[in-house]
Amino acid sequence: MSKHLQGKVVVVTGGTRGLGLAIAQACAETGAAVVVTSRTAAAVDAAVASLRAAGHQAAGIPCDVASAADVRAVKDLALTHFGRLDVWFNNAGVSAPFGPTLGVPPEHFLRVVQTNIVGTYNGSLIALQHFVAEGHGKLINVYGAGDKKVRPFQNAYGSSKAWVRAFTETLAKEYKGCGVEVMGFNPGLVITEMLSEVQVVPGYEEAVKPLATVVRLWGNPPAVPARKAAWLASGATDGRNGLVVRQLTPTALVAGLLREGWRRITGQTAPAFSLSIETI
Ligand SMILES: NC(=O)c1ccc[n+]([C@@H]2O[C@H](COP(=O)([O-])OP(=O)(O)OC[C@H]3O[C@@H](n4cnc5c(N)ncnc54)[C@H](OP(=O)(O)O)[C@@H]3O)[C@@H](O)[C@H]2O)c1
Repeated sequence: MSKHLQGKVVVVTGGTRGLGLAIAQACAETGAAVVVTSRTAAAVDAAVASLRAAGHQAAGIPCDVASAADVRAVKDLALTHFGRLDVWFNNAGVSAPFGPTLGVPPEHFLRVVQTNIVGTYNGSLIALQHFVAEGHGKLINVYGAGDKKVRPFQNAYGSSKAWVRAFTETLAKEYKGCGVEVMGFNPGLVITEMLSEVQVVPGYEEAVKPLATVVRLWGNPPAVPARKAAWLASGATDGRNGLVVRQLTPTALVAGLLREGWRRITGQTAPAFSLSIETI
């Protein structure tokens, strides 16, 4: 495996499972030292242990991205432990129960705002302050469904991702020409807890069931978008400030349909995906 990220230090918020852990693994496999964080101390320890067991350089610290002090401690850990900071992924993200906005308990809605919006703001500010002072660095914010089109019944998540996109692309314009790359990454449908453990407002159980088909057609294991994310973090994107990469391209949409057709023709079984629906 080529070592595009040798000598680089990469922070991944929400890096203890799902897409974030896969991004940390992909970056570490290409030579980076990685710092992973999430709110759960045991999950941070487990993620760091798994990365080190695979022979990678890794460190971690519990952090709620909604807290600027926690996020600053992540940056400090990268600098004290590894002596530098080159790439920052604002990956931590949550969704709210599926259903109409008035049916979503405010604490669920606001948790999305705190994590996806305030968390991305905190991470971006703290990473960019460092990158601008150093004259180099890559800030990569993770987009999601709703970043371009409104998402009825997923208003908290969709509108938070629209904000993440607007915020990121504004930063890219503001900090153009100072040696820093600000980029967006939409990983497409990723088979993680976010998709497999869905909460719904009472009465919306049936409405989410088609998700299982959508995931079968277009879902990817986290390692697939993580490889693209590691590419974004590498020198291949030097000078490409403002770049936005989307995993779910029109070609990938068609490929998903063809793959499903081929499975049916040849009688192959689709990869297992179990959808757990919890009514709140
Ligand atoms: N799965 C998809 O299909 C999909 C599609 C498009 C975009 N995305 C985006 O990809 C990112 C990762 O999603 P995922 O599917 O990997 O989700 P996931 O499996 O649920 O993992 C989320 C990670 O974020 C952490 N986290 C949650 N709230 C946090 C907070 N306030 N502070 C710090 N860490 C926090 C979680 O750990 P703790 O709970 O221990 O804090 C966990 O490590 C999100 O931004 C999501 O919106 C996902």
